[in-house]
Amino acid sequence: MATSFLSYFLVGLLVLACEVNLAQRNSGDEFEILDMEKVELLGLFDVFDALLGDSDWAKDHPQPCSETPWPGVECEIGQEETPLFHVTKIHIGPDILNPPPCKNSATFSNSLLKLPYLKTLSIFNCFLTSEVSLSPSLFGSLSSLEHLALDSNPALTGEIPKSLANLASLRVLSLSQNSLNGEIPKEIGEIVMLEQLDLSYNNLSGEVPEAIGGMEKLTILDLSWNSLEGQLPSSLGQLHFLQKIDLSSNKIMGKIPPQLGKLKSLVLLDLSNNLLSGQIPETLLDLDHLEYFILDHNPLNTEIPNFLGHLKMLQTMSLSSCGLVGKLLTSFSLLQHLSSLSLDNNSLTGTIPPSLGTLQNLDLLNLSHNLLSGEVLLSEDFVERLGKRLDIRGNSGLCTRNVYQKNVSVCLNNASGEVEPPRSGETLAWKKPDYESDRTEPSDKNRIKESSAGGGVSWLKPNLLIILCLLYFYSIFFSMSCM
Ligand SMILES: *[C@@H]1O[C@H](CO)[C@@H](O)[C@H](O)[C@H]1NC(C)=O
Ligand SMILES: *[C@@H]1O[C@H](CO)[C@@H](O)[C@H](O)[C@H]1NC(C)=O
Ligand SMILES: *[C@@H]1O[C@H](CO)[C@@H](O)[C@H](O)[C@H]1NC(C)=O
Ligand SMILES: *[C@@H]1O[C@H](CO)[C@@H](O)[C@H](O)[C@H]1NC(C)=O
Ligand SMILES: *[C@@H]1O[C@H](CO)[C@@H](O)[C@H](O)[C@H]1NC(C)=O
Repeated sequence: MATSFLSYFLVGLLVLACEVNLAQRNSGDEFEILDMEKVELLGLFDVFDALLGDSDWAKDHPQPCSETPWPGVECEIGQEETPLFHVTKIHIGPDILNPPPCKNSATFSNSLLKLPYLKTLSIFNCFLTSEVSLSPSLFGSLSSLEHLALDSNPALTGEIPKSLANLASLRVLSLSQNSLNGEIPKEIGEIVMLEQLDLSYNNLSGEVPEAIGGMEKLTILDLSWNSLEGQLPSSLGQLHFLQKIDLSSNKIMGKIPPQLGKLKSLVLLDLSNNLLSGQIPETLLDLDHLEYFILDHNPLNTEIPNFLGHLKMLQTMSLSSCGLVGKLLTSFSLLQHLSSLSLDNNSLTGTIPPSLGTLQNLDLLNLSHNLLSGEVLLSEDFVERLGKRLDIRGNSGLCTRNVYQKNVSVCLNNASGEVEPPRSGETLAWKKPDYESDRTEPSDKNRIKESSAGGGVSWLKPNLLIILCLLYFYSIFFSMSCM
């Protein structure tokens, strides 16, 4: 608190000092207060004119970096001899004004190129009706850009330009929930500083480019909900910092590359809803930190590999509808962190290992629609604790003595094939884990929160030293001019 107050105070002083200085400089002709370069200021006006419905924006915000701020604009003081403000961040989204202030014909102005200090450009929920695309000349030339997030813009269409590879400082590229199509350009692998790549929920086609292995700093890769096809490149194994891979809901085929076992930091691996086949490679045993292993709806048509019982950190394992055959592993009872195990809609045979009932954290066990048989020997406590979240329906060979007297809903299929339907609302459908909010990438919501709350102050801190020096300089300057 104290430092942020101090920095506000100091900036206030500095702004005053700058303005007095500039006013003095201009005092010969018209009295003009200028705290930005005119080209940059007019560039910003153009950019907002192309985006916002408010045609008076420029009039209402003649000094967007100082006197007349707007929540979606952030500035920093440059290093020049005469310190000036530069626009470093533009953010437009429902958190700034709801509904977002964009006009129907919102578009990108070429004047974005007049903002050479721009580090963050984030536009959410803005391009809704009239189609807009990413112009190669524009988006390949914002050389200071570190963070480009254009999410939830249904009218943002066309291809991802190759020229994005020119953005050598880019660390975050998020183009999620738009209508982008075409292939992922292989040039994307040249953005070597990139840490987060999110292209989910578009209509991208073609293969995951081999060149993706060039982005060696990547921690998050999300290409889910597109139409990607072909095989996964083995170069994924080069991305040693990856914590999260989500390639779910595409049309990716072939085998799971064994090279994924090299990704020692991986916490989440989601390859569900694809066309992957064959064995799960043994190399994945090396994923010591894996917590979410999600492969459901892939025609693996294989057995459950033994090593899965040794991925000690696993919390969620989902292998539903994978054509699995063979038996359940007794070693699953070693997975002390496991909270959700879904193996439903496979062709698993044999009995249910009673040791599964010893897993303290297990809160969902779905073994429904398999070929399991024998007596259910799960402990009564366990059955009672899970209630409806224990689903063993649709296994015609299972039988139970009437030990579960309590009013719990273990849904057992009878020899008659009759299935007790789950009551809606009571069955816990498996949801996408909200790992996003606590572990890796802050979700969009967090990002928005961050930019509207803390964001305005955070840039001040590193600049405090510069500001103090400048203050010192100005105080000398003023004391001299008073003499
Ligand atoms: C996605 O792209 C394919 C062609 O690649 C096209 O046929 C389809 O209509 C597109 N879907 C959407 C939702 O735009
Ligand atoms: C069950 O799995 C098969 C493939 O093994 C799949 O075609 C079917 O859609 C799945 N059923 C459900 C309800 O997911
Ligand atoms: C178990 O999986 C089936 C689909 O195979 C689903 O219909 C059912 O709701 C699931 N049960 C629970 C408790 O999640
Ligand atoms: C069992 O639950 C049903 C409704 O789910 C209720 O009507 C019944 O009274 C309960 N029986 C006991 C013994 O608690
Ligand atoms: C099995 O089916 C019979 C009738 O076919 C029924 O009386 C019995 O309650 C059923 N048992 C279970 C556990 O659903």
